[in-house]
Amino acid sequence: MQQAYPSVNPASLPAWQALLQQRAAMQYYSMQAAFDADPQRFERMSVHHQDMLLDYSKNLIDSTTLSLLTQLAEQAGVPQALQAQYDGALINTTEHRAALHSALRRPASDSLIFEGEDIVAAVHQVHARMEHLVNQLQGGQWTGFDGQTITDVVNIGIGGSFLGPQLAVEALQPFASGHLRCHFLANIDSSEFHQISRQVVPARTLFIVSSKSFGTLETLKNAQAARQWMLDSGCSEADLARHFIAVSSNVSKAVAFGIAEENILPMWDWVGGRYSMWSAIGLPIALSVGMAHFRALLDGAWQMDQHALHAPLNANMPVIMALLGIWYANFHGAQSHAVLAYDNYLQSLPDYLQQLDMESNGKRVRHDGQPLAYASGPVIWGNIGTNGQHAYHQLLLQGTQVVPADFIIAARSQNPVADHQQWLFANCLSQSQALMLGKPLARAEDELRQKGLSEPQIKALAVHKVIPGNRPSNTLVLPQLDPQRLGALIALYEHKVFVQSVIWGINAFDQWGVELGKELGDQVYPLLDGSSDGAGLDSSTLGLAALYRQA
Ligand code: F6P
Repeated sequence: MQQAYPSVNPASLPAWQALLQQRAAMQYYSMQAAFDADPQRFERMSVHHQDMLLDYSKNLIDSTTLSLLTQLAEQAGVPQALQAQYDGALINTTEHRAALHSALRRPASDSLIFEGEDIVAAVHQVHARMEHLVNQLQGGQWTGFDGQTITDVVNIGIGGSFLGPQLAVEALQPFASGHLRCHFLANIDSSEFHQISRQVVPARTLFIVSSKSFGTLETLKNAQAARQWMLDSGCSEADLARHFIAVSSNVSKAVAFGIAEENILPMWDWVGGRYSMWSAIGLPIALSVGMAHFRALLDGAWQMDQHALHAPLNANMPVIMALLGIWYANFHGAQSHAVLAYDNYLQSLPDYLQQLDMESNGKRVRHDGQPLAYASGPVIWGNIGTNGQHAYHQLLLQGTQVVPADFIIAARSQNPVADHQQWLFANCLSQSQALMLGKPLARAEDELRQKGLSEPQIKALAVHKVIPGNRPSNTLVLPQLDPQRLGALIALYEHKVFVQSVIWGINAFDQWGVELGKELGDQVYPLLDGSSDGAGLDSSTLGLAALYRQA
């Protein structure tokens, strides 16, 4: 299928070949020595987007590496690709679709004609409908089946119809109006349904069935269970409309499910599920923080879009983050990437980025179908700091794998207590420092000597205390976490992931791998109630199914 921008084997590009040599030349590169030799390293290796700062000076790069990496981006066609995406080219080649999530955050004054329609105008019409809903619900005009106001919203959705709204609702808690509590029901595990239904009162609960396809098993099963739960709680069939709304690009399926047509907010084929929190899929966010804050979130993302499109490659935050990821994945053999958010409100960021990054870049063939002879997306993992310091940072510091990390922190706390924020910030900085500086053998020995240990004891113990150091990290600092900055932060990662996909020559917008599990699930299900004998299936699946039947 025709690509909207050049898609080539990156390993054949001159910059890739030069980077291989650069990697060999940098075998003994020491970040610490580089800092000692260049007092301007922080200034030279940090980039601003408005008041957000990315410090990438603690990376295994020198100015030649940086220049070669930006040449790689240039040679791979990154600027054209960013523009093609923004303009609505059909860059999702296997599904013949655009990936136009950026259109969801364009201002109303903008326009983009896509397949004969001004989609920016269409987006803003949906925003107006969202606003109406938000006002009705927050203002108490929307009532439940017994005339009481709605106090709780349960979003039924999974993957992209869950992770973005959950992240933003949590992250923006300090901006919540307090009118509505949001809950997220994603899993097919009935325990989640049980837990959430115990926290809410049926007559005061609104369900949002959030599914781009309206065909996702978990979501449909949970929506059916919620419907039955409402009926069992005394809601009439006629009053169900007061308790169910839907967001979907498959309006007819939502109607067939029983959602009143006026209660269905549309989304579009040109928005990928994991990029959809900016559409009406973000309704729980708007219900929690109000439409003005939701618009600020969109605006922050749009500002980042402009930065990604227009900043030169060597001062372009998402491009730099993408290139550093490529440097480690393809030239250092890094297989994972840690997201270390030093902000409790960002506790769901790693989960969100797992889907964004791993569902997008967990691919094994290029656009042209050729298998990759190089690594693509790494495993994304992480959690909040400082908790991680007392868990997996041990591996980051002394394990055998090199795991590049992103530290993310807001300078100001939303809820200051004593000097907690200063300690939080100090810990964030000292962890990236510890990764870089490590602890050499001589220092470990000296410390033990000062404690009075004997030389044989020192010899035995010091080696365990050695921390190799020279381990890379980025630090992203926001003045504070608010809707605008959160929008920018999420869009930053969206662009990072896309830029990497362009360099790897892969399609970041399909997810065929996920489909296989769904297909096989349909085959296994009838085995469990004995309605299929599973002829031809493997003995492991049959044996495990038999255990289920016995239980
Ligand atoms: O898990 C695969 C997936 O297709 C994701 O890409 C998507 O975000 C999720 O399922 C939910 O899909 P839908 O919004 O169509 O229910």
